Amino acid sequence: MKAMKIPSVLQASATELPFPDDYFDAVFTDPPYYDNVPYSYLSDFFYVWLKRTIGDLYPELFATPLTPKSKEIVAYSHQGGYEEGKKFFEDMLKKAFKEISRVLKPNGIAVIVYTHKSTAGWETLINSLLDSDLVPTATWPIDTEMEARLRAKESAALASSIYFVCRKMKREEVGWLSEVKEELNKRLPRKLEELWKEGISGSDFFISAIGSSIEVFGKYRKIMDYEGNEVSAGKMIEIVREIVTDYVFRQIIQNGIAGELSSLTRFYLLYRWSFGEAKIHFDDARKLAQSVGVDLEREWDRGFIKKEKEFIRVLGPQDRKIDEIRSNELIDVLHKVLLLWKTGRKDEMKEVLSESGYGLKEAFYRVAQAISEILPLESAEKKLLDGFLSGKERLISDMKEKAEDVKTRQKKLFE
Ligand SMILES: C[S@@+](CC[C@H](N)C(=O)[O-])C[C@H]1O[C@@H](n2cnc3c(N)ncnc32)[C@H](O)[C@@H]1O
Repeated sequence: MKAMKIPSVLQASATELPFPDDYFDAVFTDPPYYDNVPYSYLSDFFYVWLKRTIGDLYPELFATPLTPKSKEIVAYSHQGGYEEGKKFFEDMLKKAFKEISRVLKPNGIAVIVYTHKSTAGWETLINSLLDSDLVPTATWPIDTEMEARLRAKESAALASSIYFVCRKMKREEVGWLSEVKEELNKRLPRKLEELWKEGISGSDFFISAIGSSIEVFGKYRKIMDYEGNEVSAGKMIEIVREIVTDYVFRQIIQNGIAGELSSLTRFYLLYRWSFGEAKIHFDDARKLAQSVGVDLEREWDRGFIKKEKEFIRVLGPQDRKIDEIRSNELIDVLHKVLLLWKTGRKDEMKEVLSESGYGLKEAFYRVAQAISEILPLESAEKKLLDGFLSGKERLISDMKEKAEDVKTRQKKLFE
């Protein structure tokens, strides 16, 4: 039998690996994400007990009274406020990726696990990768989180992490924006099709799409437009978001009416699809709004978009009062109709439907159906939608009859 090699485990900072250049065939890493988890502080809870029990066996690992904090790659905001913590995290992550690339053999593989629900987190990863010689050649979303986990309950937590498979290779110096866009438009929809078939949805879908797009633009050290300006990672994510948004609409609305919908309706649908009923950080909501042409700051606190400190929440019908809904926006009319349906005010409901003109419009019912399909079974909004939609055929025929009636009466008036 062949003798087994005993692996050796050692402790060092990822930013200063004690190995020579071109040493490893592969590196696998699962880096921290900003201030998501205060690892070193959590470790202190166990560290003090381990130090007492096995500290004498591993004196070099237990030299300090508590776990070392100064080289931890994390965005703590207590030393110099949030901005400084963020900058520290980003600089250290960059340093760690450069170090990985240094110790990898040419053409060696690095697998980096990453997930972050805010787009800013992705910009950092992209910028850090672009700065090293690690070129992403494949990306895979893998379910890694428990659904019942505490953070998943109220926030729009992600269910999957993206595994970036990168090669150490020289990247091309410049990619031209128009060519990169063309390549994205060609490659991304195919990948989106695959992700859709695998049942990846909501924010995970967006994040996986961002991962796949890095396979395209990560080949270049920088992207330039023809006016000679360098295109930021943030701008690239914006472009990806537009391609993804377009794809998602075509999938959830499923026929040609996607183009008839107002920007606000598109925003509502996309928000529900991406984040369900959770509140999200203002900046992420703003980016989502931007991709469908909604100016979030103009719209919040006027209708169904509500600002709560630095968060945005998209209200459902059950969060609103009938009398406060006044506009003729499809979503507002739908909310009003659902509230009237819920309280049994059927005649008023029909009146709203016919006055607004939505009662006989296919788009109205399709949007209602799409929202219902997006939401989970236990959602109060879904229950209202399903109840209302179950009487749809009857309602439409009543409304058609009424419309005919009005027409005949009008005709008689002019005879
Ligand atoms: C996302 S977690 C990895 C979790 C791991 N995959 C697991 O399943 O337990 C990130 C880890 O990076 C560690 N870390 C933070 N700064 C580091 C540094 N400078 N060098 C090496 N590791 C670091 C954290 O302590 C934390 O354990």
